[in-house]
Amino acid sequence: MRITTRIALAALIVSSASGPVLADGANLYVEKNCIACHGANGNKPVMDAYPRIGGQSEMYILAQMKDIKTGTRSNSHSLAMKNIMTNVSDSEMAEIAGWLSKQSQ
Ligand code: HEC
Repeated sequence: MRITTRIALAALIVSSASGPVLADGANLYVEKNCIACHGANGNKPVMDAYPRIGGQSEMYILAQMKDIKTGTRSNSHSLAMKNIMTNVSDSEMAEIAGWLSKQSQ
């Protein structure tokens, strides 16, 4: 097999393996279980102690997700979400933040 063919095949395999990264924010919001705590469109939290996040600014949402993931933001409620964030990449966070910011409040 020629080397260029091999490279093309490898690229194909890598791009198909990274399927979830290509999913849009709405799908990721469900897949990553955000919906279990923050509810439909980010605005039906299961507990009053959990924040409404739909319609919040994209930049703010992204910053909070990153801060909770890294532990920079840490309070008596942060831990519940921090565990989930270990399974959410930077590009996935960006997708979700973009989608959430477009939901009605
Ligand atoms: C187990 C419940 C739970 C899950 C699952 C969860 N969160 Fe959270 N989330 C919380 C809690 C509780 C807070 C408040 C934490 C704090 O004050 O530090 C929070 C805070 C946030 C904030 C900051 C809100 C603000 O007003 O500052 C954002 C944004 C957010 N979550 C997005 C998400 C996304 C996106 C997902 C899915 C990847 C997710 N959360 C999954 C419970 C959860």
